Amino acid sequence: MILTHTIVDVRRRVAAARHNGLTIGLVPTMGALHEGHLALVRRAESECGFVVVSIFVNPTQFGPSEDYERYPRTLETDCSLCSEAGVDVVFAPDTAEMYPEGTSTWVEVEGITQILEGASRPGHFRGVATVCTKLFSIVQPDRAYFGQKDYQQLLVIRKMVCDLNLPLEIIAVPTVREPDGLAMSSRNVYLSAEERDAATVLSRALCLAKEMYESGTRAPEAIRAAAIRLIDEEPLAELDYFEVVDAETLAPVVHPDKPMVALTAVRIGRTRLIDNTILGAFNST
Ligand code: PAJ
Repeated sequence: MILTHTIVDVRRRVAAARHNGLTIGLVPTMGALHEGHLALVRRAESECGFVVVSIFVNPTQFGPSEDYERYPRTLETDCSLCSEAGVDVVFAPDTAEMYPEGTSTWVEVEGITQILEGASRPGHFRGVATVCTKLFSIVQPDRAYFGQKDYQQLLVIRKMVCDLNLPLEIIAVPTVREPDGLAMSSRNVYLSAEERDAATVLSRALCLAKEMYESGTRAPEAIRAAAIRLIDEEPLAELDYFEVVDAETLAPVVHPDKPMVALTAVRIGRTRLIDNTILGAFNST
């Protein structure tokens, strides 16, 4: 496995692989890799002859009062994990490589970025869309892999790729969870032991939503109210949002027979966690 920090070098290596007839897979990450990331990597390995993992804590997707400074940075361990998983290249640029002085071009996906995470984190999706466009342009993968854990991000990227006619396929990978249901996240390391227990409230609320849906409840408001009651019972949890919306558009549910998605964001102490679950048969891949 090769670790590279420069755009010129990663481009050269990808070009050589492509010249040899290999399919190129890209897994964009911010590092602090865990089993969720590795599920993306394994899927990429199974479908592509040449796999690039990017590791870049992207400053433009963090708000001024967010955790950019304290976000975990574990490049050495990440590289060992990638090497064990059979990754060909880890691309870990520094900020100046990705955003040289004077950078002034941004990718803005309208509509779907204004709600939920976009409403709570203004500018977040502009940063995500911009860095992903740059990574797609640098690596020029045939396929890029994204987790359903960040469901809105997945839809934003799909919309952007469609609207800009970007020549790659976006592959969605199901959320990987801890045995007690907590979705794996690089941010879980922030949690104290007590907070770690409380953090299961997200998956518990989503399970409740799924049970209600599966036993016939279709009114989004009823599901939402029950889930919020459950979250409110957890003293360490502070709700940001819990919404049940159309799984394809994230708009309010109009047709209760169409698949829905329940999405939630909850603060546990200083740590903001997100999770979601699809309600109904829906294939986001
Ligand atoms: P990061 O949070 O590091 O996540 C990288 C990828 O791993 C994302 O596609 C995310 O959805 C996926 N992922 C994270 N936890 C997962 C889990 N438990 N199960 C399955 N997949 C999981 O998302 C980002 O970085 C950034 O916004 C990025 C797209 C890299 C742009 O900077």
